[in-house]
Amino acid sequence: MAGRKRVFNLLRTIDVASCKCPAHSHRGNIQVSNATPLKDYAFEIKCSTVRYGIGVTREVGLDMVNFESKNVCVMTDPNVANLSPMKAVLDSLAKTGINYKVYDKVAVEPTDKSFKDAIKFAQENDFDSFLAVGGGSTMDTCKVANLFACHPENELLDFVNAPVGKGLPIKKALKPMIAIPTTSGTGSETTGVSVFDYEEIHAKTGISGAALRPILAIIDPLHTLTVPEKVANYAGFDIFCHALESFTAIPYTERGAAPSNPSLRPAYQGSNPISDVWARFCLQTIQKYFARAVYNADDLDARSSMHLAATMAGVGIGNAGVHLCHGLAYPIAGNCKTFVPKDYGHNPMIPHGLSVVVTAPAVFRFTAASDPDKHLEAAQLLGADITRVKQADAGRVLADTILKYMDIMKIENGLSGLGYSSKDIPNLVKGALPQERLLKIAPLPQTEEDLSKILEDSLINY
Ligand SMILES: NC(=O)c1ccc[n+]([C@@H]2O[C@H](COP(=O)([O-])OP(=O)(O)OC[C@H]3O[C@@H](n4cnc5c(N)ncnc54)[C@H](O)[C@@H]3O)[C@@H](O)[C@H]2O)c1
Ligand SMILES: [Fe+2]
Repeated sequence: MAGRKRVFNLLRTIDVASCKCPAHSHRGNIQVSNATPLKDYAFEIKCSTVRYGIGVTREVGLDMVNFESKNVCVMTDPNVANLSPMKAVLDSLAKTGINYKVYDKVAVEPTDKSFKDAIKFAQENDFDSFLAVGGGSTMDTCKVANLFACHPENELLDFVNAPVGKGLPIKKALKPMIAIPTTSGTGSETTGVSVFDYEEIHAKTGISGAALRPILAIIDPLHTLTVPEKVANYAGFDIFCHALESFTAIPYTERGAAPSNPSLRPAYQGSNPISDVWARFCLQTIQKYFARAVYNADDLDARSSMHLAATMAGVGIGNAGVHLCHGLAYPIAGNCKTFVPKDYGHNPMIPHGLSVVVTAPAVFRFTAASDPDKHLEAAQLLGADITRVKQADAGRVLADTILKYMDIMKIENGLSGLGYSSKDIPNLVKGALPQERLLKIAPLPQTEEDLSKILEDSLINY
């Protein structure tokens, strides 16, 4: 790894030192790409249009009129269906007289089965636009309902990321979709990603493609005021890990070969200067507002800031990607047997944010060697004092900082607190291995033993 980094730094030095006079009109980075055809030399930032403001949901009816919609598919979950965010949406649609139909059976932490039910609903109605009102579960369900309403000839697994599915590219345009997030976490409103629990393999997987990205994200902080404490808590750790993972992801120049066609550049490209901006903003916001937002449901300032941070982190992950915490979280959530979290209903489940943060201390102890300075910067943005900290201690310092937040937020004590023991680890590793798309975004390559060790180290966190 150190060798790989040295080669990259050397190429960068050559690039900086190369002639940039007008007579030699090609920029140096093009020369670097010629010299390293197996490495990408470019990144791009894609994002939904984002509109943020208190009460801005009132505009959604007119947005649909502007899209010339005549028949809107509104998707939500059975709980949000009865809360103020849905009321605000339906009031706005009613004012315009647009036809709409509500699907309110979205499953929290959706599965292939629940996706198929939503797809059937979308295929049986001739919708010309889609509107998701809810958390990541609702937004992800709405994305696939739109996808398969426009591709009735395809099977679910056709577009699911390889090796679990066929990973076919999405070639047709989808119908316009607006996303109105009601949790502050996933950032799904800006990503071209849809995640589900594939029950057959007891792990989450997903579909990714730019076409899935909503064309408009309406970010209305008023919707956060009904979010219960544990949902604010776990979803907040989703933002936390999105920011940390995209910030520490492998640099886009080291991810792999440049695509043969720019349209094939993957959604998850590795860290880059623009997604780093979003990540830094999020880490600072978390430092200032996370605990306030969790423990004070009526603190509109804190909840608004976390709501915006969720979207910002979504832009970061939607382009840079996430790595080990998320790759390991998918089997952790998929194999849950007994854990029933407060504020999420009565079924056993491990909420997404909890499943990602539980391994975070061990993950960043492992990845710190890839770039100690960046890991220390992350710790500092989260409030740690890093003066006089040695580079060799970067992993420990970031892990301790994360643990402090987990302690304040009363996060369960490691995987053992979620019902797992040492004997479950081989199975969890097996579930993580197919998450290639995420594992290869980590800044260091990992062996199965590395993944086992991270999980072992995460059995007890405090
Ligand atoms: N597509 C992506 O880019 C992406 C990124 C990260 C996570 N995810 C996925 O998103 C899902 C998790 O989404 P989530 O964490 O947003 O939660 P969620 O949508 O699963 O909702 C969690 C709970 O909060 C309730 N809730 C939602 N909004 C509420 C409100 N305003 N007031 C009161 N209760 C409310 C819901 O009814 C539910 O019980 C997971 O399946 C995860 O894998 C997707
Ligand atoms: Fe996430």
